[in-house]
Amino acid sequence: MAIQAPEGTKDMLPDEAAFWTQFKNTAAEVFGRYGYAPIETPLFEQTELFVRGIGEATDVVSKEMFTAISGENLKKLLDGGTLRAKSRLSLRPEGTAGVVRAVVQHDLVPQGAAPVKLMYAGPMFRAERPQKGRQRQFNQVGIECLGAEEPTVDAEAIIMLMQFYAAVGIPQDAMRLLVNSMGCDACRPAYREKVRAYLQEHADVLCDACQGRAETNPLRAFDCKNPDCARIMADAPKITDCLCDDCRAHYQAVKDLLAQAGVAFVEDPTLVRGLDYYTRTVFEVQVVDGLGAQNAIGGGGRYDKLTEEVGGRPTPGLGFALGYERCLLALQAAGAEFPAPERCAVFVACVDETVRAQAFALVQACRNAGARADMDHQRRSLKSQFKLADKLGARHVCVLGPDEVAAGSVTLRDMQTHEERMVPLAEVPSLVVG
Ligand code: HAM
Repeated sequence: MAIQAPEGTKDMLPDEAAFWTQFKNTAAEVFGRYGYAPIETPLFEQTELFVRGIGEATDVVSKEMFTAISGENLKKLLDGGTLRAKSRLSLRPEGTAGVVRAVVQHDLVPQGAAPVKLMYAGPMFRAERPQKGRQRQFNQVGIECLGAEEPTVDAEAIIMLMQFYAAVGIPQDAMRLLVNSMGCDACRPAYREKVRAYLQEHADVLCDACQGRAETNPLRAFDCKNPDCARIMADAPKITDCLCDDCRAHYQAVKDLLAQAGVAFVEDPTLVRGLDYYTRTVFEVQVVDGLGAQNAIGGGGRYDKLTEEVGGRPTPGLGFALGYERCLLALQAAGAEFPAPERCAVFVACVDETVRAQAFALVQACRNAGARADMDHQRRSLKSQFKLADKLGARHVCVLGPDEVAAGSVTLRDMQTHEERMVPLAEVPSLVVG
């Protein structure tokens, strides 16, 4: 059997690849209005970065990371050796840790500087069980803003995210925006202890994993999909009842700014997100219908301690990432139309082989002038060349034969109106461009 793409990956065929490019361009346009500039970081990083940044007890790190290993190092391991930290590498499961590492490494936010606003788009890798909306290689578009802790940064990013969804055509009423605050170092430890005690009280009903989470990372129990655990967690202590005054004021300011901007949101005190770096604001956008269990099309939050986790000086940060494939599913579920790919402006058909070189030159002249131009390369009959022009969606067809070459003029047929006119060969490029 022919070799297939690996499980959990997807080829983007030309129409979709063109849409992905357009999706990224829309992000650059919308986020650019807010001052975001692109950054590219490696697709793999030292494993330690994700362990420290995302958290050892998260599913993403403990179960879903793909190890990247060179042949030489694999041999070393198989021979019973060990690898040094800098040779222990993993494919990035998300973009934040790498961007924050780059910000620290290149000192992009010197003390006292204005915040740095960065955006990225590209593949992420998680070894999850593939299902609708869940791939092992998927694409995210994300932003990170480092250097400011004010609630205007949080509100601005959320407003921008909702504006982006609108710009790509996801209907407002197909989505719901959930917000919560995760507290800070001052108030979260006491809250975590409360949840731990609550989990221990209900240990007999909880799944094994949640019983373990009570010890390692009690807040992760909020993400458990087991129906018994979900029922218990619905009545668990709420972080919003345990916030310190500063976190409460910060959260209130974010909500006020969103309301003032007319952005609808739902407060969800059980929203903890699957990554350990969050402090204060967290948010998630879910699609109401059509995506099943994998209904989160984007999410993010504040991470005021992350730079320190990766060895930098204290620098507050906030960001989000949205899943391109899930946005595509949401658009399809909403019946959105995709823009037709740009069509061929002119197809040059050859009457016989004697004019192939002239046809080749004419096609090239049209391309040089900026038009999408094409011809047949396989010596098809004139009838088949017209069929091919049709398939390519050609707007014009030029039929070039020895007579046309001798006269220096050619018939230009408009394929929509079927109108034909004789035009000088030299004028074809300027007539078909634009
Ligand atoms: P996340 O919630 O893990 O956050 O992922 C963001 C989005 O990526 C999800 O809402 C979803 O649309 C998409 N996604 C995640 N996993 C998959 C998958 N296996 N298949 C398809 N799509 C997926 C983050 O990654 C954070 N780095 C966001 C962030 C940025 N927080 C602060 N800054």
